[in-house]
Formats: sequence, C-alpha cells, structure tokens
Amino acid sequence: MRKKGSGMEILVGGGRGGGLAVLLLLLALMGGAEAFARHGAGGFNGRGGAGERRYRDLAAGRMQSVRSSFGAPRRGLATSPANGRVFHVTDYGADPTGATDATAAIKKAIADAFTPPSNATMTGGIPDLGGAEIHLDGGTYLIDGPLTLPASGGGNFKIHSGSLRASSEFPTDRYLIELSAEAGTASSSNSDYHYEFATLRDLMLDCGYRGGGVSVVDSLRTSIDNLFVAHFGTDGIAVRGGHETYVRDTYLGQHMTAGHDPGERSFTGTGIRLDGNDNSVTDVVIFSAATGILVTGGANAISGVHCYNKATGFGGVGIHVKVPGLTQTWISNSYMDYTSILAEDPVLFHVSGSFFMGDANVVLKAVNGVARGVQVTGNLFHGNDKGVDIVQLDGAFKTVEQVYVQQNAASGMNVKSTSARGSVEGNGSVWTVDFRSSLLFPDRIGHVQYSLVAAEAFPGHMLRNLSGNQVVVATDKAVSARVHVLVDQNSD
Ligand SMILES: *[C@@H]1O[C@H](CO)[C@@H](O)[C@H](O)[C@H]1NC(C)=O
Ligand SMILES: *[C@@H]1O[C@H](CO)[C@@H](O)[C@H](O)[C@H]1NC(C)=O
Ligand SMILES: *[C@@H]1O[C@H](CO)[C@@H](O)[C@H](O)[C@H]1NC(C)=O
Repeated sequence: MRKKGSGMEILVGGGRGGGLAVLLLLLALMGGAEAFARHGAGGFNGRGGAGERRYRDLAAGRMQSVRSSFGAPRRGLATSPANGRVFHVTDYGADPTGATDATAAIKKAIADAFTPPSNATMTGGIPDLGGAEIHLDGGTYLIDGPLTLPASGGGNFKIHSGSLRASSEFPTDRYLIELSAEAGTASSSNSDYHYEFATLRDLMLDCGYRGGGVSVVDSLRTSIDNLFVAHFGTDGIAVRGGHETYVRDTYLGQHMTAGHDPGERSFTGTGIRLDGNDNSVTDVVIFSAATGILVTGGANAISGVHCYNKATGFGGVGIHVKVPGLTQTWISNSYMDYTSILAEDPVLFHVSGSFFMGDANVVLKAVNGVARGVQVTGNLFHGNDKGVDIVQLDGAFKTVEQVYVQQNAASGMNVKSTSARGSVEGNGSVWTVDFRSSLLFPDRIGHVQYSLVAAEAFPGHMLRNLSGNQVVVATDKAVSARVHVLVDQNSD
C-alpha cells in the first residue's frame, strides 16, 4: 500500500499548474489523501493523464461529500466508477441526523454493495465483493428494523463510521446489524457459510433497550473492531456457528454508567455471546449487562477484557463458560471487576495473568462432576475480608485430573490451591498438618511428601493418615520435632 506522501508527490510532480496542485493538496488534507494513495498505487503508474483525471474526479467527489454530508443526498456519486466501491448511505437518502427512519435507504446501499463486481469468489463460493464499503458518513441513523445482510451472501466488505439507533418500532428479537441469511432464502454459495471477511468498524450502536447490536451467524473471519454497543435488550454481540469472529477494542453496556449505578441490580442482557468456536475477544470492556460474556462453544480465546457488568453480589456473572466437558477456553490478562468467572465442568480451561477485584473469583460448577485439564494460575485477587475463596466449587466433582490452581496471590480473600505446604511443631508422637482451609477439593490428596526434623534421637516415623485433607505423621516414641509437608491434589 502506498503511503500518503508518495500519492501527493505524484500529484505535484506531474502537475498541471501550481493552482491545481495546491487545490488537490488541500483536498487531500481534507480526507481524500487515503483515496489518492490507494488509487495511485493501482491505477496511476504509467497512465499519466487518465490517472490524474481520476484523481480530480475523486477529489471533486470528496469535496462534494464534505459539503453535503448533512445536506442534500449526493445521488449518483456512490455508484460512479470514480468512486470505486464505496457506498455512502447518504447518497441513498439515509437521514444522517437520525430524525427519520433510514432503514430502507441503508438497505439499498447494502444491496448495491452486495452486487459482486466480478465472478471472484471466496470460501465455498461466497461472492467476493471486492472490498466494498458501506460508509455511514459519520451520521446517526434511526432504524425501524434490522439491517439484515442479503441472503446471497458476500465477503470482503466493510460497514463503518457512523451511528445506528433503534427506533421504538424495532423488533425486540432482532439485531441492528445481522450477518445472517434470511430464513427460507437459499444462499448463492454452496457452502454452509454466507459471509466471510466482513468488517464492522467504528460504529456506535444504540439498541434502544429493544433488540441486540450485532449478530454473526455462519460467518467466517468476521472483524468487529471499535464498536460501542449500548442499550441492548438482549445481547450486545451474538455469534452463532461459523468461526473466527474477532471482537476487538469494543465497549458494551446495557446502561450508560461508569460504575456504582443505583440500578445495577436490575441490569439484564449479555454483552457478548459466543455460540461457536474459534472466536477471539480482545481488549473489550463490558460495563453493564447481567452476563459479560457467555461462551457456549469450544476453542474461544478471551484476553484483555474488563468486566464490570452487574456485580456477582447482585447475581451477575463476568464470564460464563458454559461448555461442560468440552470447554477449551482460555482467559488471560483480564480484569474481573466485582464480576466472577463461572465455568461448568471445565475440561481444558485456563485462567491466568488476570486481576480480580471486589471479591470476584473463579467458580467451578459441577454438572457431571468432571474437572480435567484446568489451570488457574498466576492471578491476583483483591477482596473485602468477607472470607470469599479465590476459587470456589459449586457442587461435587467426582473426576479431578490435571487441575492446577496455584501461584495465585490474594489480599482480603481465602487463597485456595490444589497444592500446598505446611509444617507443625510439637512434642509427642503424632503430628497433624491441616490443609482443609487451603486445598480446593475436599478430602483429596493425590501426592504427599514430608520430612520430620527431630531435635534429639532418631525416632521411627511414618505417614499415618491423609483423610479429610489432614496429614498425620506418627513416631514410635515421644520426641520434640517439626514436621514439614507438601501435598498436591493431583495424583500424577
Ligand atoms: C461471470 O460469469 C458469467 C456466467 O458464467 C459469465 O457470463 C460472465 O462472462 C462472467 N464474467 C466475467 C467477468 O468473467
Ligand atoms: C517433651 O516432653 C518431655 C516429656 O514430657 C519433656 O521431658 C521435654 O522437656 C519436652 N520437650 C520440649 C521441648 O518441650
Ligand atoms: C484416618 O482418619 C479418619 C478421620 O479421622 C478416620 O476415620 C480413619 O479411620 C483414619 N484411618 C486410619 C487408617 O487410621
């Protein structure tokens, strides 16, 4: 991709006269620079005059666009060849002031963008839309119904740069933007997927407490980047089927609040719902919702998330990992702010490098009582001295294998671990080291190691009992001794 500088250089160097060059430069500074550069890279070299004419047209179009973005619609420009595949919704009559319903106009822009420019296809025959942009022109648009993308499917396109606001007519069971082929209409592609490499960027979505923000169904490689999703009645972002939806740098909240909200107890809805696999959520803030992220599919990564949605004390959950027996979820570098992580029958589940605030913790909930391949390590917890465990069991686990809860640090909370050490000093023939308060699973010691340090004499000694997470060491005669013990709840 050519840099801005090179585009301008060509412009001035091949110049028709100082006046024009200066005008074009000014226009470039007003926002056309990127377009200049892009077209410069592909179309200008070696085709002097025609290329320059194209620049001029582009610049004029951009100037017109700047002048009229809040005025009369710029009909005709959107589809002119000079404008490439950028579909400005205001060209279709969408009202950028948000005063009147813009659903039909935006849908027209989407329909045009979804007319493939070539026969090129993507995975499974999804039409390649050639990088088409549905440009919201920095406006706010009122919509009465969902912007459901055409069932014909499409890939390689963007919707960006503006705000959408659900009207009071908006259906409560739909999403403002729906990447989902409408029911009953066959997609032109042969694959199970309808959309690929869709980018939703720089959007504010106000769901008006009616539906949700974005739904992504049976799509591949969807990029959701820098969205602010507010006032959802259901979910902020819902992903179902498909794979590789990447949600980045995004803010979600049902209510506009910066915390300590008096209405927090009644927050509802889910910030992000991942009902599929191979997705990623990074650098996201969820500031209001009953559940921050609900994961119901395997192989999803969550990183850099700050959840301060409804506090767990009020019944909220930060991240609910609801894939019992097939969890395959890893959470790292996140900030659980009064909201907990809840994992059901965790099998391959990892939480590390995260900070838990306000008695937030990790709860392992037994469904069939299986915990296998679990790592909760290297996290920091801060609580309010209410005796809350950093990791807590909800129900009994029958199968516990490769569960490592260790090297976490806490203040004002009880550290629970799957390995522990302790020592006891005394004068007698029985030493008991009690691990009941520090071990996570009750009555489970898979491995133990001890040493007995006696001041005088060489007593005979042995490990007597491990039951109830208490280690009992006995000597054959009374001695003064200290006993050191290491235990691990795993038996491997
Ligand atoms: C696209 O495919 C159609 C139908 O097969 C064909 O008629 C047309 O020539 C193709 N267009 C291009 C640009 O290849
Ligand atoms: C341990 O007990 C014995 C017998 O009661 C006593 O003689 C000895 O002084 C005690 N040692 C210590 C260190 O208390
Ligand atoms: C171990 O301790 C438990 C609880 O005190 C007791 O019920 C059990 O009989 C002990 N086992 C042995 C072998 O002493």
